[in-house]
Amino acid sequence: MSKLEKIEPGVMAAYRTRVAAGLLKHDPAQAVAAEHLQDLWAKLRGYDPNPKQPPNGWFARMLRRKPVDEVQDHPNGLYIVGEVGRGKSMLMDLFFEAAEVPRKKRIHFHDFMQQAHRRFHEIKRNPAIDDPIPPLADLIAGEAALLCFDEFQVHDIVDAMILGRLFEALFARQVVVVATSNTLPDNLYEGKPGRDAFLPFIDLLKKRLDVLVLESEQDYRRGREHGLKAWVVPADSRGDAAIDRVFEHLTEGHTPKSETLLIQGRKLNVPLAANGVARFDFEALCKVALGPGDYLAIATHFHTLLIDGIPRLSPDNFDEARRFVTLIDALYEHRCKLYASAAAYPDDLYRAGEGASIFERTASRLEEMQSETYLALPHLT
Ligand SMILES: Nc1ncnc2c1ncn2[C@@H]1O[C@H](COP(=O)(O)OP(=O)(O)O)[C@@H](O)[C@H]1O
Ligand SMILES: [Mg+2]
Repeated sequence: MSKLEKIEPGVMAAYRTRVAAGLLKHDPAQAVAAEHLQDLWAKLRGYDPNPKQPPNGWFARMLRRKPVDEVQDHPNGLYIVGEVGRGKSMLMDLFFEAAEVPRKKRIHFHDFMQQAHRRFHEIKRNPAIDDPIPPLADLIAGEAALLCFDEFQVHDIVDAMILGRLFEALFARQVVVVATSNTLPDNLYEGKPGRDAFLPFIDLLKKRLDVLVLESEQDYRRGREHGLKAWVVPADSRGDAAIDRVFEHLTEGHTPKSETLLIQGRKLNVPLAANGVARFDFEALCKVALGPGDYLAIATHFHTLLIDGIPRLSPDNFDEARRFVTLIDALYEHRCKLYASAAAYPDDLYRAGEGASIFERTASRLEEMQSETYLALPHLT
């Protein structure tokens, strides 16, 4: 028997191996979560509903598809919820790596929704199709029988409108969903326009996903070493000069100039860029009507982003705060590096106002993004 064959498969074994190797601290709450993931892992060994390529004709598709309530039982997914830095994404990634599912996909939920909207509109262009949801679900279910979503969150009415029918169609195709989130299903899209119409989606999620609250004591993102000065306070002339030096260093003699990114037919102006590094004033990034697609484009197109003059945000700056949260999510997810001058340290940027609790996660991420460990990670495009 080779060495490899002796290694026990599964999430629990992967977690224990990392704890034994000193890569992770033993954490009882995480161990409980890992056990739940282990159960699902075992149920999903070799999971492959509808393994054959879907036949192309509409008639064949009609024959194949079963109404939602006739679908045979398939395992419930898992919705891992907890505060920031508790290891939700880490655990889901262990599960995803270990999952012996031939077609699986792990994606940040923002990115998934972006892609879903794009495909939805592409399908809609075909005049022969009057409802894009079934073909869209066919497409997604064809790619993955297991979907792992990081940072499940619904802020946008456009997302809220499409989610219910899309997920119903995905579950009907026996797709299993695992998600991490900072928000309990019951609190998703709370206080937003059209919440009533969103409630059936919450019921559906709770029916198809077991909710697991990760109650770890510790925020593992805190307390990292800060080797590089990636966050300069305050944003005065000395702050400017510090960011100038970072820019000069990272652009390695290339001449910075303005650039235009094309995002789904729209143009986004990047004021200054060179050598994979972009530089923006905070206002040009978060005071104008940019959205997740724009931030995603920046995070994937550039390996490093410099922001000048991040102000303290008051309750009146909710829109800026919300955009900033979205921006940092995109940067973090793609391991895009951030250097900034700011009026305050991350924890003090947005203390009161709508979404201030969501901002805690952003502050925690900003801390981690200044760490040597983060700064050494490869950029994910
Ligand atoms: N038990 C642990 N011991 C050491 N580091 C951990 C542990 N759990 C998580 N981490 C690390 O802490 C950071 C935050 O974890 P993460 O999974 O991103 O949290 P969450 O998704 O809950 O916000 C990551 O770098 C992760 O690898
Ligand atoms: Mg996470």
